[in-house]
Amino acid sequence: MARIRLTGGRVIDPASGLDDVTDLVLDEGVVKGLSRGSGSADGETVLDVSGYVVAPGFVDLHTHLREPGFEDMESLRSGTRAAAAGGFTTVCAMPDTSPTTDTGSDVEALLRMARRDAVVRVLPVGTVTKHREGRELSEMADMAEAGAVAFTDSGRMVKTGALMRRALEYTLLTGLPIADHVEDPDIAGGGVMNEGPTATRLGLRGVPHEAEEVAVARDLALARLTGGRLHLAHLSTAGSIGLLGRAREQGLAVSAEVTPHHLTLTDAAVAGSESGRLYDANARVSPPLRTLEDAEALLQGLREGVIDCIATDHAPHRIIDKNCEFDDAAPGISGLETAFGLLMRLVHAGRLDLATLIAALTVRPSRVWGLPYGTLARGAPGDLVVLDPAQAWTVDPGRFLSKGKNTPLAGQTLRGAVLLTVVNGTVVYRNGL
Ligand code: DOR
Repeated sequence: MARIRLTGGRVIDPASGLDDVTDLVLDEGVVKGLSRGSGSADGETVLDVSGYVVAPGFVDLHTHLREPGFEDMESLRSGTRAAAAGGFTTVCAMPDTSPTTDTGSDVEALLRMARRDAVVRVLPVGTVTKHREGRELSEMADMAEAGAVAFTDSGRMVKTGALMRRALEYTLLTGLPIADHVEDPDIAGGGVMNEGPTATRLGLRGVPHEAEEVAVARDLALARLTGGRLHLAHLSTAGSIGLLGRAREQGLAVSAEVTPHHLTLTDAAVAGSESGRLYDANARVSPPLRTLEDAEALLQGLREGVIDCIATDHAPHRIIDKNCEFDDAAPGISGLETAFGLLMRLVHAGRLDLATLIAALTVRPSRVWGLPYGTLARGAPGDLVVLDPAQAWTVDPGRFLSKGKNTPLAGQTLRGAVLLTVVNGTVVYRNGL
């Protein structure tokens, strides 16, 4: 494995509080260390990254890779190539595949396929209930043993409070969190976008904020009852942040994530604020894009640490599943390749500092799920990204490495580009460096 020296970059490693211009060396797949201006050794690949930022590789706790079963939407190969292009070196694979990831052997099979096809690290997430049907718990201890990192019924709330209670009790045994899709389907009532004036104007059925907040309240109460380890997936409302903040003050073992789209977009995107197209099905997502006040509260929650981290909820879909009536469109955004550029909107607007953004994509997700990644500490896995925070580029889904071309950002200019991605000391993506 080649030794790589990155020279002259601004190295930001929030895990150690480092933010300095220095050289960084990777050797034998791990971080060898920092060095200032010392010469290079023989056989070393030297890359001049002056003017750019060097950071730990991003860690995504919420990625739909669709394989096995839905390879027409995405595969381990295409999804992890998209991840690499987005700067992600570790992705946690959601279990809503076919078959669903329900057992230790399902976890082993996914890890085997990933060793063959994936270009970044893939960590399996198992289901909470068999086939995500909300009837019977899956074999969580067995999956934990085989290498699962968390459990979720992905795309669906764990159906009953009784099952969620038992699942949280299991976390005391496995030490792994239950990541819940906090949305009460009865209250959501078949809604297709945020309930509010835009939905009324467009004549679309809305999902009220309470669909999420009732689910958050249930899960927090059960986390309190059991002492179990709860993770709240893709929070979207200001009210959820309030509930979470109070739970944290009481010392509950709860963590939470927010997506790039919920931080930066609102339900106006459905009416064409991003794409210029009314009824833009590419802005249909679950939970729905909310209001400006919600996005503000999510950002404040992230800045203050009430929300732990950013996760993409990368949800690739086929063109025919989006190119249809809004009511019939599949929810989801293909988000890996736009995440950094989209989030940089917040940095360029002076509302989030770059080091906090990098922390929310690296050490913070790693810590909440106990993963040994997201740091450039000496001896850590050689996972890193080189970023140009200023580079402008125009989103062209036709050029995505993901099979999912579904983004409301097509044609938008983003400022912030990934130039290089390295996993375990191997270059897996290179763009102009
Ligand atoms: O919009 C979404 N799409 N939200 C989810 O939770 C699931 C995802 C999907 O699988 O397409």
